Amino acid sequence: MEADYGYLCRRVEGLTGIRLAAYKRPQMERRLKSFMSRIGVDGFVSLTRLLEHDAKRLQEFKDFLTINVSDFFRNAEKFDELRERFLKPAVSQGQRLKIWSAGCSNGSEPYTMAIILEELGSVSGHTIWATDIDDDALDKAKAGVYRGYEVRNVDPERREKYFKRTGPDEWTIAERFRRRVHFARHDLLAPTFPGGFDLILCRNVVIYFTEPTKDELYRKFSESLKPSGILFVGGAESIFKAHELGFESVAPFFYRKRVA
Ligand SMILES: C[S@@+](CC[C@H](N)C(=O)[O-])C[C@H]1O[C@@H](n2cnc3c(N)ncnc32)[C@H](O)[C@@H]1O
Repeated sequence: MEADYGYLCRRVEGLTGIRLAAYKRPQMERRLKSFMSRIGVDGFVSLTRLLEHDAKRLQEFKDFLTINVSDFFRNAEKFDELRERFLKPAVSQGQRLKIWSAGCSNGSEPYTMAIILEELGSVSGHTIWATDIDDDALDKAKAGVYRGYEVRNVDPERREKYFKRTGPDEWTIAERFRRRVHFARHDLLAPTFPGGFDLILCRNVVIYFTEPTKDELYRKFSESLKPSGILFVGGAESIFKAHELGFESVAPFFYRKRVA
């Protein structure tokens, strides 16, 4: 089994460039086993053979492995727009915002929100909820510890200000941000949703969902927002039936809850 796992790691790195061996093994094995049982493969050697010969499965495997990929200030120009268009006016009117990062992965997204609010000079009174279905991702998010490549898009000035260097290739988000973000497990396919939000970020999550599932999710997001609340979606996730699902489009990738 040991040798089989090593063989898979070497071949996957050769085929995809993804260094499986760099991931914590128990979690990776758990994830691999769930992938194998889904596609009906019974061991690492059989999986390796399949990936070597089936380009479609290889792509599916890559998607599966990178499903947690996230980044601080992901699509930075969109976060600039969010700040200028929605956050600045709200904060300058003294609003205390309730924000939800739904599908928060390793925490880069909700921590980005906490950083932006601090840069707007508004640190207290806001609530940032961050949820994900993946316990490993949530553990990482709560710890707030990142490798160099994970903070590569944070400009050096921000990195010095908001992170502490805790190892040769390790950056830990400043403690104050960890206190400002509340992480919890939540399945976006579950029937119950929290409510009363001014802003929901759900970015790069629904791409793996079917169309009816997405529609249902957006309907629920609309119900979870306060009147005029904003939903911020990912760069490939325009909502075509926005009106029907309870939104009006205010700018590409920003939707406002529609008042009936
Ligand atoms: C690609 S990451 C996106 C992270 C972040 N929103 C961003 O844009 O950088 C997708 C995340 O969605 C989470 N996810 C997938 N299905 C989910 C579900 N049913 N409920 C909650 N989170 C889910 C995954 O665990 C993963 O962490």
